[in-house]
Amino acid sequence: MSNQLAVKCRNVTKSFMIAKNVETIALQGLDLDVYKGEFFMLAGPSGCGKTTLISIIAGVLQQNSGTCIVNDFDYQTKSAREVLKFRAKNIGFIFQSFNLVDSLNVGQNVALPLIINGMKQREALEKAKEILEEVDLGEKLLSPPNQLSGGQQQRVAIARALIHKPSLLICDEPTSALDHVTGTKILELMKEINKRFTSTFIIVTHDNRIFKYADRIAYMDDGRIERVSQDHEL
Ligand SMILES: Nc1ncnc2c1ncn2[C@@H]1O[C@H](COP(=O)(O)OP(=O)(O)OP(=O)(O)O)[C@@H](O)[C@H]1O
Ligand SMILES: [Mg+2]
Repeated sequence: MSNQLAVKCRNVTKSFMIAKNVETIALQGLDLDVYKGEFFMLAGPSGCGKTTLISIIAGVLQQNSGTCIVNDFDYQTKSAREVLKFRAKNIGFIFQSFNLVDSLNVGQNVALPLIINGMKQREALEKAKEILEEVDLGEKLLSPPNQLSGGQQQRVAIARALIHKPSLLICDEPTSALDHVTGTKILELMKEINKRFTSTFIIVTHDNRIFKYADRIAYMDDGRIERVSQDHEL
């Protein structure tokens, strides 16, 4: 973990219009620092704004006001095209529901981000094979994702998020669909990747059994960071 910032949020606000003249405030003046190489967790009750926050950090959602700077890239000052390019190069996103495409095999699922970025299919599939071997799934290359266990599907989702070697990995509830033993294995795999590639991780979780893996944990409530604790003392 360095003293350089991977993520710097200042006074970030976000609200949604849910009906005519009815507004939900999801983030109200939120500040957050995450350091490069940090294994950072974000906890807090349902509806407090966690997914909204990480979507802004990932550049898939725009704040109403305030700044969000990721690796010195200030989203608000950039064009949609620049954001897209930045995201494709720097950010990996692991969704709660895995978001795997069942009509493609495991290898094709993992290769997808590279193919979308314009890499030739054969080269992308070769890279997919390499990264799948890293997460111990080399033998499932040609299987459809729906024939895999929950933990295996989560590993495919991790491989897909890692394939372009992003510097920031954002995971929304990576263990919520998994039993404890499988969840622990996934966290150990993420931690190993974090150490090996010095990539920054931001992990949203309700699961206090995985807090022990965190460098720091931010506790969110009502659209703000309430406190940040070191060494899982939450
Ligand atoms: N697209 C949207 N349209 C309208 N309201 C939204 C939208 N996305 C989020 N919200 C509202 O913003 C608030 C924060 O939602 P968010 O999804 O960020 O919470 P969360 O902390 O991720 O919750 P959970 O733990 O249940 O996933 C909630 O009140 C939610 O209803
Ligand atoms: Mg959420």
